[in-house]
Amino acid sequence: MKKNNIILIGFMGVGKGTIARAIVKSQGIFAVDTDDLIESMQNEKIKKIFEKEGEPYFRELEQRCADWIETSVDNTLISTGGGFFMRPNIKSLGHIVYLKSSFEGILKRIKKAPNATSKLKKRPLLKDMKKAKELYEKRVPQYEAIADLVVDVENKSLKEIVQFIKESLPQVLK
Ligand code: S3P
Repeated sequence: MKKNNIILIGFMGVGKGTIARAIVKSQGIFAVDTDDLIESMQNEKIKKIFEKEGEPYFRELEQRCADWIETSVDNTLISTGGGFFMRPNIKSLGHIVYLKSSFEGILKRIKKAPNATSKLKKRPLLKDMKKAKELYEKRVPQYEAIADLVVDVENKSLKEIVQFIKESLPQVLK
């Protein structure tokens, strides 16, 4: 049987954390974020882990999170880093919800944030916009292929997004 977790996936800056917090507020469900788990596990910021240890090591840490979720976590909302969907056991972790937006929509959202500079700075893979766009183009079909539910988040209010997810996953969110 499928695990009763909700796994939020999607590109950097699409709003996975913000949407997770809104769901928590309206539902009182427990939630964890894989980047937060990694940072507390390593006592180090993601940016530093990338600089000191490199991306392959960061992906190993993501795999450790995925394995822990698979063996030990249920009935939980899990927001993930933009590359977490590549973990081979992702489909065993719960209902995969892909938060979808155009690349321009994501940039607009980041630029609008009061802490836009820090949002860009803490994400090593957003340093070079041309490369980030290429990564986005490569990942979109991959996100879509593994998603159980696709949620178009562009031009929608947080309330509408939460409502849609709630209606689509009544087995998890009441
Ligand atoms: C990454 C996304 C980041 C973070 C890391 C790598 C990616 O998380 O996990 O910098 O590969 O897309 P956000 O999606 O929360 O920015």
